[in-house]
Amino acid sequence: MTTTFAVQEKMLPDTHTATMRATVFHGVDDIRVEEVPRPQAGPGEAVIRVTMTTICGTDLHIVRGEYPVRPGLIIGHEPVGVIEELGLGVSGYKVGDRVLVGAITPCGQCNACLSGKLSQCGHGSGYEAIGGWRFGNTINGAQAEYLLVPNAQANLAKIPDGVSDEQVVLLADIASTGIGGAEAGGVKIGDAVAVFAQGPIGLCAALGAKLMGAAVVIGIDGDDNRIAFARKMGIDVVLDYRVTDVEAEIHHLTGSGVDVAIEALGTQPTFETALRVLRPGGTLSSLGVYSGKLQLPYEAFAAGLGDHRIVTTLCPGGKERMRRLIEMVRRGKLDLRPLLTHRFKLANINEAYKLFGERRDGVMKVAVTP
Ligand SMILES: NC(=O)c1ccc[n+]([C@@H]2O[C@H](COP(=O)([O-])OP(=O)(O)OC[C@H]3O[C@@H](n4cnc5c(N)ncnc54)[C@H](O)[C@@H]3O)[C@@H](O)[C@H]2O)c1
Ligand SMILES: [Zn+2]
Ligand SMILES: [Zn+2]
Repeated sequence: MTTTFAVQEKMLPDTHTATMRATVFHGVDDIRVEEVPRPQAGPGEAVIRVTMTTICGTDLHIVRGEYPVRPGLIIGHEPVGVIEELGLGVSGYKVGDRVLVGAITPCGQCNACLSGKLSQCGHGSGYEAIGGWRFGNTINGAQAEYLLVPNAQANLAKIPDGVSDEQVVLLADIASTGIGGAEAGGVKIGDAVAVFAQGPIGLCAALGAKLMGAAVVIGIDGDDNRIAFARKMGIDVVLDYRVTDVEAEIHHLTGSGVDVAIEALGTQPTFETALRVLRPGGTLSSLGVYSGKLQLPYEAFAAGLGDHRIVTTLCPGGKERMRRLIEMVRRGKLDLRPLLTHRFKLANINEAYKLFGERRDGVMKVAVTP
């Protein structure tokens, strides 16, 4: 026993410290930055030193107790970093490589992964609903100095030289999710697309629809800052639901309704209006996280005979997804840096949560660095 222990100790880099700072969930409205054991990479795993992360709307649901996670868990699921340790069996990488890791970390080997449904990963076999979302949900997450990456071979996406942390940090979740919503909706050249809510997710969905060739993208929100921001980011038409009859206005703008309606909030009213503005045969692509029951009004649904498609998307993850998104950034097709409206040090992440949660000072996303 003693010998094994000594060998393991010797294999650790000289700079290795036993502990690190991390954002730990203790209970509702109680997260603390504290000293915790630093992870070590086992077979197939990697440890990255986190150089930038951010806070997601879903983290707010966790902190408010609306999405339960276990007390003691390190939260956060949007990591950019540098490889610090590589476990046995991870090839093609070296310590010091800069990497982006998606919010969703598929195993790459289960039925779900091998059938292309990586977000519903069954961890080695089968399918598990939401199984691909592990960071800050079922395993320790990214709002920390170091992060253990499971199934590293499937999840480390190298960041090319010349591409900064700021350019890629929002790809891990919001860009992958939002653009994924446009892809799942099957947006085609010439389509009319409506996107309900222009928070970070909805805005990325609208940008995704533009990238995919929509002729017109209509964003809907009711917050002055978000409306102004969506216009600044080039969304064609932005409707303020507080002063506009959204359903009438979209029918006026499009004739028969939109080809694709994207829901990016997770409420009955937005889901229902998305269905009401959809043309017969159109696709409702849903990204929001819902609670309670959702109802489909029969007339908007053409009594079930309207050839509508309703699809849902959990953020696509894995290294190939991240590589593709990084490539869009590197080639100048996608620039999400304007969304990083505020910066915080990890030590002050509680302030960042407060600002982000209250949507103060025009905040869209915050960059958090060690
Ligand atoms: N599917 C996924 O993988 C995934 C990933 C991350 C987040 N989410 C979910 O996506 C949703 C949006 O996330 P976000 O971070 O953009 O949220 P956010 O809270 O930052 O933004 C929500 C926006 O909705 C607007 N809004 C409120 N009521 C509205 C209404 N009736 N009509 C139109 N707009 C309205 C608000 O003004 C705000 O701008 C959340 O439910 C979040 O949990 C899903
Ligand atoms: Zn998220
Ligand atoms: Zn899997």
